[in-house]
Amino acid sequence: MGKTIIVSNRLPVNITKKEGQLLYKSSAGGLATGLGSIYKEGDNVWIGWPGLSIKKEKEKQTVTAELKKENMQPVFLSKAEIRDFYEGFSNGTLWPNFHYFNQYAIYEQDLWESYKTVNYKFCLEILKVAEEGDTIWVHDYQLLLLPEMLREKLPNISIGFFQHIPFPSYEVFRLLPWRKEILFGMLGADLVGFHTYDDMRHFLSSASRLIGKSNSQGQIPMDNRYVVVDSFPMGIDYDKYAESAASEEALERETKYRTGLGDHKIIICIDRLDYSKGIPQRLEAFELFLQKYPEYKENVSILMIVVPSRDQVEKYKELKEEIDELVGRINGRFGRITWTPIYYFYRSFPLKALSAFYKIADVALVTPMRDGMNLVCKEYIASKIDKKGVLILSEMAGASKELSDAILINPNDINEVVSAIHQALNMPEEEQIRHMTIMQQSIKKYNIHHWVNLFMDRLNEIKGKQKSLATKKLDKESFQMIKNRYDKAQKRLIYLDYDGTLTPFSDEPQKAAPGDELLEILQQLTADPLNRIVIISGRDRHTLENWLGHLDVDFICEHGVWLKEKTNSWNMIEKLTDHWKQEILPILELYVSRTPGSLIETKDYSLVWHYRKVETGLGELRTRELSSHLKYISANMNLQVLEGDMVVEIKNSGVNKGRAATAWLEKFPADFVMALGDDWTDEDTFKAMPDNAITVKVGSSSSAARFNVVSYKEVRKFLSQIVELNTVSQ
Ligand code: UDP
Ligand code: G6P
Repeated sequence: MGKTIIVSNRLPVNITKKEGQLLYKSSAGGLATGLGSIYKEGDNVWIGWPGLSIKKEKEKQTVTAELKKENMQPVFLSKAEIRDFYEGFSNGTLWPNFHYFNQYAIYEQDLWESYKTVNYKFCLEILKVAEEGDTIWVHDYQLLLLPEMLREKLPNISIGFFQHIPFPSYEVFRLLPWRKEILFGMLGADLVGFHTYDDMRHFLSSASRLIGKSNSQGQIPMDNRYVVVDSFPMGIDYDKYAESAASEEALERETKYRTGLGDHKIIICIDRLDYSKGIPQRLEAFELFLQKYPEYKENVSILMIVVPSRDQVEKYKELKEEIDELVGRINGRFGRITWTPIYYFYRSFPLKALSAFYKIADVALVTPMRDGMNLVCKEYIASKIDKKGVLILSEMAGASKELSDAILINPNDINEVVSAIHQALNMPEEEQIRHMTIMQQSIKKYNIHHWVNLFMDRLNEIKGKQKSLATKKLDKESFQMIKNRYDKAQKRLIYLDYDGTLTPFSDEPQKAAPGDELLEILQQLTADPLNRIVIISGRDRHTLENWLGHLDVDFICEHGVWLKEKTNSWNMIEKLTDHWKQEILPILELYVSRTPGSLIETKDYSLVWHYRKVETGLGELRTRELSSHLKYISANMNLQVLEGDMVVEIKNSGVNKGRAATAWLEKFPADFVMALGDDWTDEDTFKAMPDNAITVKVGSSSSAARFNVVSYKEVRKFLSQIVELNTVSQ
């Protein structure tokens, strides 16, 4: 078992410099705690930026040596990189775009260049320690390009990626000039995780619309592997918060703070300084609340902690000024000698102080405009040992998907926030306890350790599956085995699917038609009198005969409807009727008129509705409608409705490639049988083959075939090597 490498922009330690001395402060954050059980073990390591710029080589060496003791490895960023990569692209471009503040986003090529360079810098740092067999877990939006960079260098390594912030809707994400590179960057991973199902589906939709990578149940096939995309809502270290809240120190602090604050009700607000947190909007709601319910003057205060963050970024500086002004205005307007409406602290506090704040608070007001998850609300719940307290939570926070027992609000609706504050302050104790109990049970169960294990187990499982796929890869050894059997055989029967197997899949006839290279391979195959070559395709017989009729091959067309042995004439597999077409065709025409870009293909005994050129999403929607419409109508017509690759095909029941292929096996017994195909219709062929047959699937999805190859190009290379032809482009 290899080691695990955790990678994030920030290390779980923050280094600062005071009077020439380096000071190390470990992070108490949830991620650091959750991953502590991993990176502190054996050779495992956490790679990231230690939080300051260090120039002197000697100092870098000292830091590296110090961090090594704690299983950490630094990536040093220069002042320019901090400006362009961290403050610039990460927090000036990606952060606003991903949080739906696109009006704040800066699009600058130089910042993008720096982002690429620093991602590569991380890659090089990882390569110093990574080996095949290791697992790398990359975190968050600062490192979106890293999975692909790592994949290029270490093709078989296991890579997980988790994004801690939202993934925006396609309509917002597509505004980024570098959107395609970003998607390919993330798809270098084996597992891509988000906090919520919505983030996951936004990502899948962008991948499908922007780079044509569609998915089946969250799995995206890439060249020789597939990527799993799923949601893993992150939890907190529940016991740590519950224990801290119960500690002697928290209790002492609670008593002390209570004395200072007086005995009126307290609403707690804790956030990093960030426009995504909705701090000014929340203050305005509180101002309106005091105006609307004047009886609460002197009876309730907000305790507001804003943790300094990214204060070199322009929008953060502006926000700080806005908050300072608003707090000043509200306190100036409503405050009394004996009462302060808002206690405001612009700094961070130690855990025990936070625990005391959470305990004191009657209400937690958590109202981000957007938040990937939001841990503060979960920490509030875990700290409520007596179960009394009310959580008001924004629908725009990922956590709201799990915490339906909170009072959920839309942070843009100021009146709703005002009512929620009023409702929370008046909630009877039994009701508070009832809701809190339910939320505590959930937060306790789905804690940070659960999250880490879930993600890691899933990643291992995927890698296991990838490996079993890889063992099916048609490598040199397997090729040699096939070639030996081919050379020794007395009679050979070879089934070749056409589209996607011998040629790239295309709607355009000029692209799908066989070129010189393919014709030469087929000529060589048919030149050997021991070979019987069967072209087994879903295409109509006329097209295939037109393209390949001059060769000494057999045909199985329309997925097994029409059969032809060499120069003989065409035969139908059984007496079929096509009367049903009169009824089905008008339905397909209706769908064509409702769906621009779709078209109908008419074959002798089947009808096909194609939607490859239809707007993404609409085609899939219409397919579902059409399929259920047809299944209902065709129930008594002895027809089958099959959904394929951008097609819906309707044909007579009981006709498939497998059935036709079996007829050939019986008629032309051979000691070497081989079948090559790329899609679901070829699975019938594979299943019909005898146990000792060579079956080869083109593509990476699961299959009954014994071997896998990546593309039609590999098929051509394989066939030309079988017949010892040297002219195929490599
Ligand atoms: N926090 C802290 N010190 C403070 C205030 C807050 O360490 O003085 C922590 C808080 O306990 C929480 C984190 O900062 O764990 C904020 O996480 P959240 O997911 O709520 O927001 P983010 O900052 O990640 O956007
Ligand atoms: C959010 C992000 C993290 C980031 C943290 C603090 O939680 O998801 O990736 O580390 O904010 O921001 P900072 O810019 O100080 O690292």
